[in-house]
Amino acid sequence: GTADNQYCAPIKVPDFGDQLFHRGVLKARADWQNNAFVGQADVYLSYERHDVTYADGVVVSLKKPIFEVENPYDAPGETKQSANVTSNLLQDDVLMGWRNGMPVFGLGLLEAIPEASILANVDAEDSNNDGISGRANWVFDAVKAQQGDENPVSLGRFGWKANTPSVRVQSLGALRGDIGITNPLFPDESVAGTSLHDSYLTRTGFIDTGEDANGEPEASAAFSDSVVFYAETLAVPARRNVDDSDVREGPRLFEQLNCSGCHTPSFVTKTSGDIGGLPMSDSLKGQTIYPFSDMLLHDMGEGLADGRPDFLADGNEWRTRPLWGIGLTQTVNPQAGFLHDGRAATLEEAILWHGGEAQQSTDDFMALSQDERNQVIVFLRSL
Ligand code: HEC
Repeated sequence: GTADNQYCAPIKVPDFGDQLFHRGVLKARADWQNNAFVGQADVYLSYERHDVTYADGVVVSLKKPIFEVENPYDAPGETKQSANVTSNLLQDDVLMGWRNGMPVFGLGLLEAIPEASILANVDAEDSNNDGISGRANWVFDAVKAQQGDENPVSLGRFGWKANTPSVRVQSLGALRGDIGITNPLFPDESVAGTSLHDSYLTRTGFIDTGEDANGEPEASAAFSDSVVFYAETLAVPARRNVDDSDVREGPRLFEQLNCSGCHTPSFVTKTSGDIGGLPMSDSLKGQTIYPFSDMLLHDMGEGLADGRPDFLADGNEWRTRPLWGIGLTQTVNPQAGFLHDGRAATLEEAILWHGGEAQQSTDDFMALSQDERNQVIVFLRSL
């Protein structure tokens, strides 16, 4: 991408932006007295189910989330099925994707993986013929842009489509975009200039203008740096049950099924240089790490596709999820789901959703005995 095509960034929906807020701050809507916390639109969730049956007769029921967006603020009451759709949000060319929040640990280590080590696994044309290609995403880098770089593009590493270059951009983007705290990297509210925000600013009483008393962003540079440092240096959980005899069979099966074709077990982080445009903490340097991800994009098939490109990632592509710490996901939150939209209630369901470049791995997993399938799962739980 170049400046001329906005670096292939997703185009914002006019008057909405690039992230949907289904809950608003108090007083957002014109009729806010009746709809105190209603945001840009309402979102409803339902599931489409289908069963997968192993050769031994065991059945697993898979569910895919279907989201409906209704009642947008620019055309209250309207739905996609309305006779004459006028809302910008409900136009047919608006592409929407749904994202689960991701665990926040080990991120500075992932950013410290040398770019060359990641690019060494790119195999866009699948020249080794294993059915797995792997592409890099190249994305707009707000830090480079702020530093005046003429080509502010970096390797994408974070986000479900590797659409974010650094922990700094991700953290300060979330500080502004997810919780509305403007900061030196993102000084304007993400909804600035939309009619909803303009009318909100006319309300009386407490109004969040996005600026402090001196007209500066709400978060100071020091506060922002602390948020980034915390997100960069939160430690990866230690493995558990490593002496269990079933867990010990896992790595062999993980190789045999070629899960490791995308979930690359290990990397060594760089020993010098910057991350996020600033010198990196010593604690991140020269570490052998076990993230189980190649940090690249893969076509995961129709079942997982959201049809929404993001920089160079297409609608079928997702970044390989790091699997470290995954065994503790449901210890932290028993309700948590796996995969980009949280559709998989278990690790087994997550594997069974793998299609596209991972279809062979899934077929081979399905051909395992129940004991071996269990060994793969308990190995994942030990990570
Ligand atoms: C072609 C590359 C590829 C192969 C091969 C592959 N995976 Fe994945 N894996 C991915 C991608 C990409 C995702 C994220 C997909 C999404 O969220 O839609 C993922 C997600 C997962 C998740 C869910 C992680 C989470 O936190 O949501 C698990 C578990 C997983 N893979 C395990 C496996 C296992 C076990 C195998 C081997 C049987 C395997 N994968 C083979 C690319 C691959």
